[in-house]
Amino acid sequence: MQDQSVNLLILGGSWFVGRVIAEDAVARDWNVTVFNRGRSSTPPDGVRTIHGDRENGEDLARLASEGPWDAAIDVAGSVPTMVRDAARALQRATRKYVFVSSVSAYAGWPAEPVTESSPLHEGDPDMGSGDGPSHAYGPMKVGCEAAIRREFGADQSLILRPGVVLGPHEYVGRLKWWLGRALRGGQILAPGRADRVIQPIDVRDLATFVLDQIAGGGAGTYNAAAPTDRTYRDLLIACLAATGGSGELLWTNDQWLAAQNVQQWTELPLWRVPPGTWAVDTQRATAAGLACRPLAETVHDTWAWLSSGGRAVEHERDAEHGIEPRKEAALLDAAQKAGAVDDRETFPAQSEPAGKA
Ligand SMILES: NC(=O)c1ccc[n+]([C@@H]2O[C@H](COP(=O)([O-])OP(=O)(O)OC[C@H]3O[C@@H](n4cnc5c(N)ncnc54)[C@H](OP(=O)(O)O)[C@@H]3O)[C@@H](O)[C@H]2O)c1
Repeated sequence: MQDQSVNLLILGGSWFVGRVIAEDAVARDWNVTVFNRGRSSTPPDGVRTIHGDRENGEDLARLASEGPWDAAIDVAGSVPTMVRDAARALQRATRKYVFVSSVSAYAGWPAEPVTESSPLHEGDPDMGSGDGPSHAYGPMKVGCEAAIRREFGADQSLILRPGVVLGPHEYVGRLKWWLGRALRGGQILAPGRADRVIQPIDVRDLATFVLDQIAGGGAGTYNAAAPTDRTYRDLLIACLAATGGSGELLWTNDQWLAAQNVQQWTELPLWRVPPGTWAVDTQRATAAGLACRPLAETVHDTWAWLSSGGRAVEHERDAEHGIEPRKEAALLDAAQKAGAVDDRETFPAQSEPAGKA
């Protein structure tokens, strides 16, 4: 498929991952159509917008009549019947169907390391929304993946399983919280080990990979995470550096923090103890061309975007992230008394007083 000729449909395209994919595709001079309700945010410049509700069959039929496309990217689907219905409606209108799933699709994640062939949750392609364990995020994503493979076949399906995605426009609020915390400075409750590997992927690298795959005719399933060459310390130092903050990182024991009921993943964003959390194998995607920029660049650019007035779409998950300052201060006090601070580091580094010649 020649780059110039790509007609791309994005189901969504105005919040975060979809938006950045749309921006990248426009920059490649692709013909980009986005389909959304037009409720929450305006899509990037240069795209053609079709408004409609993907839960409405007539809207999907109207959308399909506006094709054909070389590929449709279903960015934010999470209910199998909704994804199934969109894939069915678009079957004659697009050659390829791309789906943004999640590393949560794996039954063993985050307890165990995962590769693309690790066992998945049970997922039903005909399941609608509802409550209960089979309606949890991971099993539902598996159901969505199964619905797409059923409608499009493995050869015309491209499935991405990202871990944490960061960068400008991120609305979950994980990096935004750490940036704000770094700006405030002082003694900072730094969770666990400074050298803990973390694998958040920059949304722009994810977008590039997806579009390169489409351009190259790629299909199949790929984990999408950063390589294991970056650490939690890199994240916090980059946040301090980007914001101009100064502070002391108190690296506090995992088990002690967990025993104090500090909520993993949310109160201290990106802190999660199970050993598979950041053991997502990315060899397949790397071999296929996934290239990840340094974490410091993601942090720097997100801060630059926020501090120049960038605002993500409002989302309920944003409020779940971060720890109350008073609770953090009390924990820091208690951790020092309990001997639970394993390491500490001041940023910027204190320079040694110049000795006499
Ligand atoms: N953030 C992470 O760390 C992370 C990690 C792993 C996986 N993921 C996955 O990454 C994806 C993130 O997607 P995103 O939210 O950033 O995508 P997006 O495409 O940028 O935004 C979601 C789009 O869906 C549209 N939409 C919502 N309900 C709709 C409806 N009923 N009919 C038509 N359009 C509708 C929204 O616009 P309107 O509201 O205007 O309709 C918006 O354009 C998700 O699949 C998520 O599971 C994220």
